[in-house]
Amino acid sequence: MTNSRLPGFYKLSVEERRRVAAQALGVDVADLSRALSSGGMDCATADKSVENVIGMYSLPFALGLNVQLNGRDYLAPMVVEEASVVAAASNAARIVRAGGGFHAETDAPIMIAQVQLDDVRDVAAATAALLAETETILAEANAAVPGLVVRGGGARAIEVRDLGDGMLVVHVLVDCRDAMGANLVNTIAEEVAPRIAHLAGGRIGLRILSNLADRRCVRVTASIPVEALAFEGRSGESVRDGIVRASRFAEKDPYRAATHNKGVMNGIDAVVIATGNDWRAVEAGAHAYAARNGKYEPLCTWRIGDDGSLVGELAMPLSLGIVGGSIRIHGGARLGLEMSGVQSASELAMLVGCVGMASNLAALRALATDGIQRGHMLLHARTVAIAVGARGEQVEHVAAEIHARGNVTLDAARDALARMVAVSGALSVGLGGE
Ligand code: MEV
Repeated sequence: MTNSRLPGFYKLSVEERRRVAAQALGVDVADLSRALSSGGMDCATADKSVENVIGMYSLPFALGLNVQLNGRDYLAPMVVEEASVVAAASNAARIVRAGGGFHAETDAPIMIAQVQLDDVRDVAAATAALLAETETILAEANAAVPGLVVRGGGARAIEVRDLGDGMLVVHVLVDCRDAMGANLVNTIAEEVAPRIAHLAGGRIGLRILSNLADRRCVRVTASIPVEALAFEGRSGESVRDGIVRASRFAEKDPYRAATHNKGVMNGIDAVVIATGNDWRAVEAGAHAYAARNGKYEPLCTWRIGDDGSLVGELAMPLSLGIVGGSIRIHGGARLGLEMSGVQSASELAMLVGCVGMASNLAALRALATDGIQRGHMLLHARTVAIAVGARGEQVEHVAAEIHARGNVTLDAARDALARMVAVSGALSVGLGGE
């Protein structure tokens, strides 16, 4: 992937976009079309993956454009049903390019296995005994996941936390390499629990990973020259200041922070789903992390840099994998990963973090200026047109009409479609009669 700037991509037909994307990525367009037409999974496979299956359920698969991360271009696969999310993230990523793109780094892919112990009589003695046997516990953990050890991962450290009332929790920190790691970590938790209970002299409780994956955080920064923020007669300074005020609002008010973070997650979840990852795990981790200081806070914040640029910072846990899980059985997820061009779970986390920051920037830029409804409504109008039965070219016509009338409702769309069908019916009758 050499350039993720694909001007005019949005104006192409679906087939043309597939051709352009295949060319940009150097993949076979027939393979790409096959994988995308089927939705990535057939019903027989679905029936073997979850229970009580009665069919399949599709979502749009799109490409986020313009992402430049640590000097390299990426296409971001995005699966999302909400209008504007892909366009907004692509547009914001284009603005970020003016400042050299996104810069990101990640922690090592460390997940936490938790072993709960109850009825521990002497917490201090138990803690000392557990720490003294760290190497034994780690060796036992690693013996339970030999494949992970071969791939360079494995249990790295233990921590003991006193939760009071005789409840002790032992964390085993596990480097999961390119796996999300839920199965590996749960296996380890169950394997080491008896020894831990024996050493601490307590009763075994839960043995499960923590979704607050705060040892596996991604940090993204971007610095945008103020001129790149100017649009439609607004100065770059006024847009920048509006975004910084919006960030402050979220920093002060959890009610706003929740919505601010929803905007971040619009981009995050779309790429997480497109690459076959567990978005519930990512969501749980993101919001627990947002509340880590005892108050719910924004995951992405904006300030004015020393040179007057707009500087964004995003930090959050991202427990993602590029092997295992649904990636094995879902063609769409495999294609999403291939299209992203990432080579490791950490690289995927950085890409996902960038798209989250881009989504947040787009939302704040709109909210701090025109509001989101203007841009949102035309896209929403298309969904409304489709909902009342418009197909093909009718969709654009009906959407444009109800949007121009400022009445984006099902009733208005039904009227517009009925009129359009009546006119084309009359035309074809007229033509046929001549
Ligand atoms: C809508 O999906 C997301 C926004 O509400 C995010 C925000 O308010 O920052 C626009």
